[in-house]
Amino acid sequence: MSRVLNCIVAVCPDGGIGYKGDLPWHPTRLNNEFKHFRRLTVTRTPGAEDKQNVVIMGRKTWNSIPEKNRPLNDRINIVLSRQLEAPPSGAHHLARDLPSALRLLDGPEGLLADQVWLIGGSSMYSEVMETPCPRRLFVTRILKQFPSDTFFPDISPAQFRLLPEYPGVSSELQEENGIQYRFQVYQSLDP
Ligand SMILES: NC(=O)c1ccc[n+]([C@@H]2O[C@H](COP(=O)([O-])OP(=O)(O)OC[C@H]3O[C@@H](n4cnc5c(N)ncnc54)[C@H](OP(=O)(O)O)[C@@H]3O)[C@@H](O)[C@H]2O)c1
Repeated sequence: MSRVLNCIVAVCPDGGIGYKGDLPWHPTRLNNEFKHFRRLTVTRTPGAEDKQNVVIMGRKTWNSIPEKNRPLNDRINIVLSRQLEAPPSGAHHLARDLPSALRLLDGPEGLLADQVWLIGGSSMYSEVMETPCPRRLFVTRILKQFPSDTFFPDISPAQFRLLPEYPGVSSELQEENGIQYRFQVYQSLDP
């Protein structure tokens, strides 16, 4: 598999990413963090402006997006589910598992797909940690603890290295609504 798999997540100090079907810090909004997510997942590789990026997500992550914001615009939205028999209303594609989703991109749809972004939840992130291919992890470290019931897996230093900087990603401390956070980017080591 030659495509880079890009994962993006915002995570509390204890690894929490979700609570009761929403983000742990809900109802506080981190608008600039959301803009960071949108900019990264929408922006295509120079020269690939005729294509769209792909976002792949689990069924519960799809459900966690407010209906008015679904599908995530300017991106091809693929939802993973073993139960559903058709894409949920508004989604572009349904896949039974991650390899099937990635195979969709190598078919006719592949002609239109540029970057691949895996946007959650927990089991897909865990699967990617074990997938031997080039991967990048775009992690927002939320520097405040909130109750969580869904978690991001540990990032193994044997598999990933934290990049000292990444083009277009600020290394400055961010703060919104009294919540501080930092952007980090990890790159997989050679499998
Ligand atoms: N902080 C963040 O950056 C972030 C990012 C994403 C989500 N979240 C939060 O995390 C929570 C949702 O995540 P979650 O982990 O609970 O659920 P999820 O992974 O989004 O959805 C779980 C469901 O998706 C399907 N699924 C997931 N992985 C699959 C796979 N590899 N193959 C086939 N189907 C798969 C299954 O659907 P079926 O049961 O239909 O088979 C599974 O029950 C919410 O609270 C959300 O707000 C936070």
